Amino acid sequence: MPDAAPHPVRVLAMMNQKGGVGKTTTTVNLAAAIAEQGRRVLIVDLDPQAHASLHVGVEDDDLPTVYDLLHEPEMGVRECIREISPNLHIVPAETDLAAVETELAGQPNRNARLAKALSDETLGYEFVLLDCPPALGLLTLNALSAAQEVLIPMQAHFLALQGVSKLLETVGLVRDQLNPILRVAGIVLCMHDAQTSHSKEVVADLERFFESQRSTKTAWSSARVYRPPIRRNIKLAECPSFGQSIFDYAPWAPGAVDYRKLAETIVAEWDRALAAAKASDLSEAEIRVLRGSLSSKPHARVE
Ligand SMILES: Nc1ncnc2c1ncn2[C@@H]1O[C@H](COP(=O)(O)OP(=O)(O)OP(=O)(O)O)[C@@H](O)[C@H]1O
Ligand SMILES: [Mg+2]
Repeated sequence: MPDAAPHPVRVLAMMNQKGGVGKTTTTVNLAAAIAEQGRRVLIVDLDPQAHASLHVGVEDDDLPTVYDLLHEPEMGVRECIREISPNLHIVPAETDLAAVETELAGQPNRNARLAKALSDETLGYEFVLLDCPPALGLLTLNALSAAQEVLIPMQAHFLALQGVSKLLETVGLVRDQLNPILRVAGIVLCMHDAQTSHSKEVVADLERFFESQRSTKTAWSSARVYRPPIRRNIKLAECPSFGQSIFDYAPWAPGAVDYRKLAETIVAEWDRALAAAKASDLSEAEIRVLRGSLSSKPHARVE
């Protein structure tokens, strides 16, 4: 859960340097599920493959994209947004985005361009989901600089575990050098087969590891393995070719059920975090009042 008194927009980066693990599927369908709950959601497609853009049916339309947003410091984010449904919007990508890595090399603040663009508090989104490419370059660094939290989509395979420790290390470095509030929210298990003993062992390993980190000061000290895991479901693989989320394509398929439940968890933990932040503000105010009244009495002691 986010720390107390965060910015009221929850910005989540779907990150895993490994390809084909479910980053884009999770970005699009989690975003659509959150939007279904009446929350305003923005997707930012940071992958030159533009898979998230295609998944929601946005094709080349000659309007500004995330390429322009990163390239032109003066470009407003609103000009780059397309509406998918009333609560769901996207800043799409285009293949030119691959060039941004070299074009911005040596430019000041090149890793913070997206963070600056999204800092406009009047945009009115409650959730922003960033779809990262499968590489740790300028695009992913922009995502990690703009996000408060990282969600790691992965498959429960032994080799993927080793990738996770490298990934956590990277998030730690980015937190130290670029974004001090960045933390790992947790892991979303994708294409999951709960029946195999191998996947059960991997999930148990992950949970043991995160439990052992609770008292550390790492970026992943409060990370969790999200429930439910997203089952392998062919409907999830089919819907991108129709430019639809699973909720438009097959709203009661297992993939839709799983992403809907995951969205409920993500929204509920954010609501709880905001309520806690509000409550702690109030009690701080009460403490201040109490201290004020005590210190006005000459011999009162404040413990
Ligand atoms: N739960 C699932 N069940 C079945 N197929 C899935 C599921 N999740 C993802 N897929 C399919 O697996 C493939 C890879 O998924 P996806 O594109 O989301 O991964 P990615 O991590 O974004 O890949 P890349 O690293 O290339 O960006 C896609 O064809 C997608 O449709
Ligand atoms: Mg992808």
